[in-house]
Amino acid sequence: VTPIRGTTRVIAILGDPVEHSRSPAMHNAAFAALGLDYVYVPLRVRPQDLPGAIAGVRALGFAGLNVTVPHKEAIVALLDGVSPAARAIGAVNTVVRRGRRLVGYNTDGEGFLRAVRTAGFRPRGKRAVLLGAGGSARAAAWSLLEAGVGRILILNRHVDRASSLAARMRLRKSAIVEFGPLTDALRRDTFAQADLVVNCTSLGLAGKGGLRIAISGTPKHCLVYDLVYGARPTAFVAAARRRGRLAENGEAMLIEQARLAFRLWTGREPPSAVMRKALGLPPRSRSS
Ligand SMILES: NC(=O)c1ccc[n+]([C@@H]2O[C@H](COP(=O)([O-])OP(=O)(O)OC[C@H]3O[C@@H](n4cnc5c(N)ncnc54)[C@H](OP(=O)(O)O)[C@@H]3O)[C@@H](O)[C@H]2O)c1
Repeated sequence: VTPIRGTTRVIAILGDPVEHSRSPAMHNAAFAALGLDYVYVPLRVRPQDLPGAIAGVRALGFAGLNVTVPHKEAIVALLDGVSPAARAIGAVNTVVRRGRRLVGYNTDGEGFLRAVRTAGFRPRGKRAVLLGAGGSARAAAWSLLEAGVGRILILNRHVDRASSLAARMRLRKSAIVEFGPLTDALRRDTFAQADLVVNCTSLGLAGKGGLRIAISGTPKHCLVYDLVYGARPTAFVAAARRRGRLAENGEAMLIEQARLAFRLWTGREPPSAVMRKALGLPPRSRSS
């Protein structure tokens, strides 16, 4: 562990709740491995306290932030600038201090894309089904469209949210973007031409029920990706694997979004193996 001194630069993750976050372990291990004079601390901030917290971040000279649920959208208005990707997605998960300015980025979208590419998915012209229409679905949809996906179907419990996400994405690209209710995921024909199926709902998180879909309707080559992460495969991933589909939990995305944030804060190449170890994951194999 790097000793904390007067020169130590502070990065915080703001969320509510935040106790469950695995980012402190990942980033502190990476700072220590590279001998960087940084520390990463989790801070619970209630929604009504976010403006005060950002004033504090400015006054205390924090070097940067991660931002998680429920602050990713609300923080945009409190910053001095945001990257084009964060503007398009409408959410920030990483903040960097540049002089006196706090600038927001979104590394979830790019992190997601890197994770599915590593799993073998080539986006151009392909068809994707996204389950969910919250912040992470917005990031996934935007990054897939940027990478040239041909068609996206967004299914969500509250179908109005799927509809407004589809409308927002249609404004940007010529790809076909459709939407429907999450119950359509129980129909085999929904997935008949899917190359990628992504769970962007929080179903599968500890304490929540699992997500059920008609996995047998997907073509054999279809990649199934679950943004939910944990030490063991989620029930959704396990069900897809039982059907012979290539399926992964969200660890790779978690690491990729963290690596992008680490580069933004420090300008240094993050040590992936150290981050994986801090998450309790085995060294990278071809399929992980
Ligand atoms: N691997 C990574 O690096 C990474 C990064 C970001 C997020 N995530 C994970 O992705 C998940 C979603 O995060 P988010 O930021 O997008 O959350 P969010 O903005 O709160 O959206 C939650 C989504 O889950 C749906 N949902 C929640 N409870 C449901 C239920 N009981 N039945 C059906 N649908 C339900 C919501 O549907 P409604 O709109 O109908 O409420 C919405 O689509 C979380 O598990 C998070 O941990 C992982």
